[in-house]
Amino acid sequence: MRPSTFVAGLAAVAAPALAQNMSICDKYTTALLKENTGANQLTLLTLLVNTVVIGNYTQPNMNAVPGILAKGDYMGTEVNLLPYFNGGLASSNRGGSMGVSINFLDDGGAVPLTMNKPSNGTSSNQYKLMTHLYQYFGALLGCSATGFPSYQGFGSQAAVHRFMDLSAAEVGYFIEQVALAATSFGVSADDVATVGKALNTIFNVRCAPPTTVIPAQGAQLQSICEDETCPLAPMATCAAYPPTMKPAKVNSTMAGSNSSSSGSMASGTMGGAAATSSKPASYTGAAMKVGAGVAGLLGAAALAL
Ligand code: HEM
Repeated sequence: MRPSTFVAGLAAVAAPALAQNMSICDKYTTALLKENTGANQLTLLTLLVNTVVIGNYTQPNMNAVPGILAKGDYMGTEVNLLPYFNGGLASSNRGGSMGVSINFLDDGGAVPLTMNKPSNGTSSNQYKLMTHLYQYFGALLGCSATGFPSYQGFGSQAAVHRFMDLSAAEVGYFIEQVALAATSFGVSADDVATVGKALNTIFNVRCAPPTTVIPAQGAQLQSICEDETCPLAPMATCAAYPPTMKPAKVNSTMAGSNSSSSGSMASGTMGGAAATSSKPASYTGAAMKVGAGVAGLLGAAALAL
C-alpha cells in the first residue's frame, strides 16, 4: 500500500459520478483506494484513526494533524489527553466503583501505527482499543462492505468513558483531530462538517437520553462529556448518569509528561489500581429512549452526497 497515492487519487474523482446512496465510507474508499471492499474500508479506517491518534504519518497530506496524544489548545483551553491513554490517570472503567489505570500504548505505541497497524501483536490493550476504534468509526461512517468487521466493544460510550470526567474542551479537541485527519486525506468540508456535527451532538453533550449508534446494540447512554463545561443535551436525563469526579493521577512522571507522538510514549508501565474485569459498569437509570440516533444523522448525510 502506498499512502502517497491517496490524496492524488481523491482529486480525480468527480462527486456527481458517485451513486446517491453511498455512505461517507463508500465514497472515500472508492475515491482513495478504488475498490469498495471490506478490506479497503478497513485500510481507510486504519489510516484515519491512526492519524487521529498519532498525527500525520502519510505523505502527501492536505494539512497538519497533531493527533490526540499531543498536547493542544482547544478554543483557548489547554488540553492533554495522553494521561488517559498511557496509564497516567485512574480513568478506565472495568466494572468497579472507581476508575483504574490502564496503559493503552502497551504494544509498540506509535511505531506500528505508522505502519498502518493497530499494534505489534494481537493480545494487548492497544490492539483491542485500536481495532475497536476502527470498527466503531467505520460503523459511524457507514462501512458495510462484506469483510468489514462489526463493532466488538461496549455499546454505551457513557459507561466506557465514565471515570474520565471529560470536559467540553477535551471532547472538542478529540473531535477536532478527527476532522483534521479527515481533511488531511481530502475529505470535503461538507462531509467533515456532517461527521463533526454528528459527533458533537451525540457525544459532546451532558446527560443525553439513550441513543442508538450501533443498531445491533440498541439505544445506549452515549454522553462522553461530563463535567460542568459540557452543554446539556436536549431532553437531558441526568438521573440516568451516575455522579462523576476527576480521575486520580497515578504516576506524576507519566501523567502529562510527554507531548510528542513518538514511540517513546509507549514506555509507561501500568500503575495504580489493577484492572479486575473486562466489563465496564453499566448504568441502570430508567431513561427515556429516543429513536433515530446516529444512523438517522449520517443516513441523511449519505443521501445528500
Ligand atoms: C467523539 C468522541 C469519542 C468517541 C466516539 C469515542 C469512542 C470510543 C470507543 C468506541 C472506544 C472503545 C470502547 C471499547 O473498547 O469497548 C473508546 C475507548 C476509549 N476512549 Fe474514547 N471516544 C471519544 C472521545 C474520547 C476522548 C475525548 C477521550 C479522552 C481521553 C477518550 C479516551 C478513550 C480511552 C482512554 C478509551 C479506552 C477505554 C477502556 O478500554 O477502558 N475518548 N472510545
